[in-house]
Amino acid sequence: MIAARACANIALVKYWGKRDAALNLPAAGSLSLTLAALVTETSVGFDPALAHDVLVLDGASAPADRVTPFLDLVRAQARVTTRARVVSRNEFPTASGLASSASGFAALALAASRAAGLELDARELSILARRGSGSAARSIYGGFVRMHAGTRADGSDAYAEPIESALADTVRMVIAIVGGGAPKTHGSRDAMEHTAATSPFYSSWIAQVPADLAAAEAALARGDLKSLGEITEANALAMHASAIAARPPVIYWQPATLAALAAVRELRARGRTAWATMDAGPHVKVLTTAAEANEVAHALAAVHGVTDTIVSAAGGPVT
Ligand code: PMV
Repeated sequence: MIAARACANIALVKYWGKRDAALNLPAAGSLSLTLAALVTETSVGFDPALAHDVLVLDGASAPADRVTPFLDLVRAQARVTTRARVVSRNEFPTASGLASSASGFAALALAASRAAGLELDARELSILARRGSGSAARSIYGGFVRMHAGTRADGSDAYAEPIESALADTVRMVIAIVGGGAPKTHGSRDAMEHTAATSPFYSSWIAQVPADLAAAEAALARGDLKSLGEITEANALAMHASAIAARPPVIYWQPATLAALAAVRELRARGRTAWATMDAGPHVKVLTTAAEANEVAHALAAVHGVTDTIVSAAGGPVT
């Protein structure tokens, strides 16, 4: 068995929409922060004795229906046909309900490719991980990461790259877990497709992304967390606006999501560094500094419906 570890990432400029569903090619670029506190460890061993792929997820046997097509890509590249045993564990704080496809497919890309005898470089791993989940392409790298939408039909220019920034050392993300009886949410894959197909705001959303990416990269280059935070929050709200306007709507927010957003605005009104983003679920992730992270976590923990908070520094690349 070959083991790999990868950190999840949270997008500051979101990926929401594909230009090619089969190859998982994004319609626009995205920009993210890799998080040290959200780690997946995955081990892979190819075993001629197996009749089909086997997945053990967090200690329990799980359906391999997303793992097998991904392993098929690795098998095709490595010219092997052997089935594999995949053992994956999320080292996330208990019952967080956080999506783990980014860290999961990044760790699987490295562990499976090595186990199959391939020596892929980081860019090749990013392209491979993208096939499992678009956001996984970014989890190959640590710190701030830029995903390129690319223009080629074969996806060979749709990969992620790290962005150097002095902010990587001082930035923190506080994750406010919104729990309590939330109905099952829409998976991101179907929901972004549905948004693209039915939302009158989808084209406006996609048109906005290049400007947000350019402004976010400029803010990173200047070490300007306030500007980065402003773009992060505005971009997340624009993404959600496009999803909310889909017909029927895709609404990920719970009452506590809005309450947490209000708490973030209140923190800012008191002069604190705090900017929110949300993904395909009700949780609120807040960009702040190492010096202010505990106060931000405390304020979010006091919000009715927030069941837990996690403070994370920037994480490293897949190993
Ligand atoms: O990579 P996927 O298919 O899980 O989609 C990720 C979608 C968002 O988390 C909402 C945005 C992003 O860029 O991570």
